[in-house]
Amino acid sequence: MDLQAIIDGIVSELEPRRGEGKVADYIPELAKVDPNQLGIAITTVNGKTYTSGDAETGFSIQSISKVFMLTLALGKIGEGIWRRVGREPSGSAFNSIVQLEHEHGIPRNPFINAGAIVVTDIVLAGHKPREAIGEFVHFMRFLADDNSIHIDEKVARSEQETGFRNYALGNFMRGFRNIKHPVDHVLGVYFHQCSLSMSCAQLSRAGIYLANRGTNPLTGFSVVSPRRSRRINALMLTCGHYDGSGDFAFHVGLPGKSGVGGGILAIAPGKASIAVWSPGLNEIGNSLLGAEALEMLATRTGWSVF
Ligand code: DON
Repeated sequence: MDLQAIIDGIVSELEPRRGEGKVADYIPELAKVDPNQLGIAITTVNGKTYTSGDAETGFSIQSISKVFMLTLALGKIGEGIWRRVGREPSGSAFNSIVQLEHEHGIPRNPFINAGAIVVTDIVLAGHKPREAIGEFVHFMRFLADDNSIHIDEKVARSEQETGFRNYALGNFMRGFRNIKHPVDHVLGVYFHQCSLSMSCAQLSRAGIYLANRGTNPLTGFSVVSPRRSRRINALMLTCGHYDGSGDFAFHVGLPGKSGVGGGILAIAPGKASIAVWSPGLNEIGNSLLGAEALEMLATRTGWSVF
């Protein structure tokens, strides 16, 4: 299979549609991103990376960071995490607060904002916010084997200034004692993890352990056990696109995690890790052309898990 030809074909077919969708504007710094960008990168379990379009341009990974923070939190407290966050799709928007009241401050899953804030609270334990941010950045550099990966401080500040809903979620859950640290400390870390800037090429390399039973084939390092890798993929499939998760599974058929920066990380188990990026979003907040590119890729490679 000629993966390079496949992704070049997808990028050129989507060429006339560059700019479709709506760039996230509730974080002012994200609204400044040029919408006419589209990149794809694939890293295979043999360790080879293929790129096409704007695959080397850095973008804000946003909620894709939740996959890697979950990996860190599982490493710290193991399955105990599931006492504080659920594993069911929410069927609600990523920033919704409604279920929290009836469900005693336990978020439905680790990928909606409320769940991710709990995960960040777990990673923060025993650290100062600055140290937790540093741990996350080092983890991402290690996974992608690239020390140039950094946080976009402007985006982090922009999130901090406008993250009213996230403060509401954090305070609400602190009221239920499901957040253990001061909310501004937890959100300080959360906003920084979301503001990490990575390219498709870097992101596809960082995610490869999830396609390779928990082991990074580039370094031979075991990041998580095969069972844990399978479980993270299951959560990505069922919850990775919020109330659009069913539709993404229907069209693409791969575990995936989106971010409002327009990126999507998708995993073809046993085959490859794929990162796509196009800033224009659909009404749910997932990359419009990114999801279409992945549907084309899954069809042409036969990589759907179904
Ligand atoms: O908390 C927020 O609203 C953003 N930092 C992340 C949200 C996000 O990426 C949702 N994904 N589609």
